Amino acid sequence: MNQTIIVTGGAGFIGANFVLSWIKLGLGTVVNLDKLTYAGNLENLEAIQHNPQHIFVHGDIADQALLAKLLAEYQPCAVVNFAAESHVDRSIHGPEDFIQTNVVGTFHLLEAVRAYWGQLNEEHRHNFRFLHVSTDEVYGSLGKSDAAFTETHAYAPNSPYSASKAASDHLVRAYHHTYGLPTLTTNCSNNYGPHHFPEKLIPLVIHNALAGQPLPIYGNGQQIRDWLYVEDHCAAIRRVLEAGQAGEVYNVGGWNEKPNIEIVRTLCRMLDVKKPRADGKSYAEQITFVEDRPGHDQRYAIDATKIANELGWKPKETFESGIEKTVHWYLENQDWVKNVTSGEYRNWVQTHYTERGEELA
Ligand code: NAD
Ligand code: DAU
Repeated sequence: MNQTIIVTGGAGFIGANFVLSWIKLGLGTVVNLDKLTYAGNLENLEAIQHNPQHIFVHGDIADQALLAKLLAEYQPCAVVNFAAESHVDRSIHGPEDFIQTNVVGTFHLLEAVRAYWGQLNEEHRHNFRFLHVSTDEVYGSLGKSDAAFTETHAYAPNSPYSASKAASDHLVRAYHHTYGLPTLTTNCSNNYGPHHFPEKLIPLVIHNALAGQPLPIYGNGQQIRDWLYVEDHCAAIRRVLEAGQAGEVYNVGGWNEKPNIEIVRTLCRMLDVKKPRADGKSYAEQITFVEDRPGHDQRYAIDATKIANELGWKPKETFESGIEKTVHWYLENQDWVKNVTSGEYRNWVQTHYTERGEELA
């Protein structure tokens, strides 16, 4: 069987980590289709830029003709779909791109894959997989003592981002149910780790702390997320690709529920030791409470029992070991941070945070 896979969105945070580990593990050739939006960055793939097993293609998942050409040319045994607009706050400012990529784009991708899969020989049809990378946000928000999300939890997305991801999950489900396309869907909690774009909480706080900027906490900071180190997510996706049952959904999480304020305080304590402020004060002095995110989900929690029991996947990192690696990576890769925080990033930060009443230096 041909071990070539097509990955979409492989220049972004999770996609790049996935592609890098796939190549490092020698699992086969990756054709990496990415539109290179503000979140896509070829610098993430620098380590494999001359590796013949990595073929980068600049393009859009909504371009069905391009997809048909790539599928015919490379005859992949799987397609893994990471490509998406992924930031909740941006979806509140401007939902249209989210509908275009996450819904319309996924639809075109599914159509191209269905046509390709339909003409494969029996053995290839049987082994082929379309894996759709999704999020726990599709399930909506939990109360403090509610049970964590299982795969059968009703969908109740609350933001334009999560609604667009929910729509794409439903399309994937329908393509399995109606056409028999061998799909897999993973719904994962909040990732963190290397190459995380500094618009998201953890890399934003590390970046702002070192830059002497405020550390913006939405509302009271008591919202809870479940955190998973990105390489654990990549390992879960590999395991689902390898052994997941076609048509099934697998929830992926770190069993690490933490309120936002606790995450920020932990980061401040770590930086106080690893990179003390010149004035000897704690980075915690930079914490600033700002206007809340509209419709802010209170709590996400993933019940990852199914993937543990059926596929034997469990996270390797604790929050303590994962956050240690993450902070270390950011301190060692300040040039990467500098490059991604120039240009468009500045406009986003100015617009979004000054609206919330934060004074930027
Ligand atoms: P990201 O924003 O860092 O990267 C998205 C990538 O997709 C970028 O490289 C971008 O250029 C590319 N892209 C965007 N639109 C495209 C299009 N139309 N065609 C081709 N490429 C396009 O996102 P991420 O955080 O790496 O998330 C990857 C996937 O995982 C997303 O589907 C997201 O919903 C899901 N997810 C993310 C998290 C998380 O915590 N980050 C958690 C669970 C699930
Ligand atoms: O749960 C999985 C999801 O996690 C993914 O599907 C999304 O793609 C990913 O962006 C992430 O969504 P969140 O909204 O949870 O992540 P974010 O890092 O934006 O915010 C984490 C929490 O921190 C959230 O409760 C909002 C809060 N926050 C965020 C920012 C950027 C702040 O308090 N201040 C901030 O400046």
